[in-house]
Amino acid sequence: MQSLLVAAVAGSSIITANAFSIPTYHQRDNSHGDLKSGFNNAIILPSVGGHATCIQGLIPITASAQNYHLNYQGPANQTVATETVVEFLQVNTTLPLQVIGARTTVSGTWNINSKLCFPTSSGAPNASLVQFLTHGVGFDGSYWDFYSADYSYVDNAALNGYTTFSYDRLGTGSSSHPDPIQVVQSPLQVAIAHELITKLRSGAIGSTTFSHVVGVGHSLGSELTNAITAQYPKDLDAAVLTGFSVETTGISSFFSSLDLVPANTKTPSRFSTLPNGYLITNSLAGNQFAFFRFPDFCPDVLSAANTASQTFTIGELFTNSFFVSPAPLFTGPIDVVIGENDLPFCQSNCLVPGNQAEVVRGALYPNANVAGSQVFVLEGAGHGLNLHYNAKEAYEHVFGFLRGNGF
Ligand SMILES: *[C@@H]1O[C@H](CO)[C@@H](O)[C@H](O)[C@H]1NC(C)=O
Ligand SMILES: *[C@@H]1O[C@H](CO)[C@@H](O)[C@H](O)[C@H]1NC(C)=O
Ligand SMILES: *[C@@H]1O[C@H](CO)[C@@H](O)[C@H](O)[C@H]1NC(C)=O
Repeated sequence: MQSLLVAAVAGSSIITANAFSIPTYHQRDNSHGDLKSGFNNAIILPSVGGHATCIQGLIPITASAQNYHLNYQGPANQTVATETVVEFLQVNTTLPLQVIGARTTVSGTWNINSKLCFPTSSGAPNASLVQFLTHGVGFDGSYWDFYSADYSYVDNAALNGYTTFSYDRLGTGSSSHPDPIQVVQSPLQVAIAHELITKLRSGAIGSTTFSHVVGVGHSLGSELTNAITAQYPKDLDAAVLTGFSVETTGISSFFSSLDLVPANTKTPSRFSTLPNGYLITNSLAGNQFAFFRFPDFCPDVLSAANTASQTFTIGELFTNSFFVSPAPLFTGPIDVVIGENDLPFCQSNCLVPGNQAEVVRGALYPNANVAGSQVFVLEGAGHGLNLHYNAKEAYEHVFGFLRGNGF
């Protein structure tokens, strides 16, 4: 309990420091209001391909969630971190039973590094719709605006007239990094996403009151998007779940290939101040194994993804399985998009025994809009589908799904 309070206070003090140490400059645009409103330390910058203009900064989010008290200290060092993951993956493991304790309220205020991007050609966000982009394990929000216009979802969305909102999940990128055991867990991640969506709909971000929000996730970000549709069924008008299915036999191989180790000793230049419970992929080959399929990717993109690798916490490891659940109250359309050779969600073959994308709606969405829902399998791509040569085919499919549903 004590550590939760410390983490919550630490989160608040970061925000206070930001608010007072750097004066916030607000750019005024008479026709569209203050685009920097809602952000601290906001800057305006182009997307990697220049087709979108983005406001990026820290959004302070006050949230409360029923996390799990984890009876887990440390890990003391790499040896113990590795042992934890191995025991977690053991057949009929009892480790979660030993570790996962009672539900415990965690509340606080945390900084979420966020990026609102709109088509440069239009000069302002389109208030009719924002796509809410949630990244997965091993990345931060830059997964959606990566490397060049050929790969950037944000650029391709802007070219199709769409406004996007991406963010670094708690504990990644430039967002707050609280206690990785008790605080950075799936229930709190869901609560933070809900608060962000609420702000987008109320006009608290970029002076734009968005009337529709479509959730777009990748991997753990799709699990989180599913959790939003289940717990807050009115938050999203539609859900696009990429790098996701309900066939999870490959998760064990996925975590093995990540070979997670404490980030502070693996990459001290970026993570020296983080506690040992923040873990990171051990190698470039591990990143390839988990996210890519050759020859459908450019080696420089793998290298860039490896250099930009982000952390995953012990708290997320133990609470990850609580993300996904049926969403009977969600009535919007869903779109399931997977790489043909996705490792964690298809054990590298999404067409065996049948199309795994097609199974999702029946398993989780009994009341989704059937006529509006779609699936797509991206040929030859691995789990990190946005980072493959043919990523644009998946994007064009998603934008077609959105247009087909009137967005
Ligand atoms: C790692 O920590 C464990 C538990 O404290 C200890 O037994 C072990 O000797 C440590 N290993 C190394 C290499 O320091
Ligand atoms: C694991 O536990 C289940 C029951 O929960 C049991 O049916 C199964 O046989 C066990 N598997 C092994 C390999 O022992
Ligand atoms: C905003 O999006 C809606 C729906 O796609 C479209 O009809 C409208 O023309 C767009 N407005 C602007 C200013 O681009």
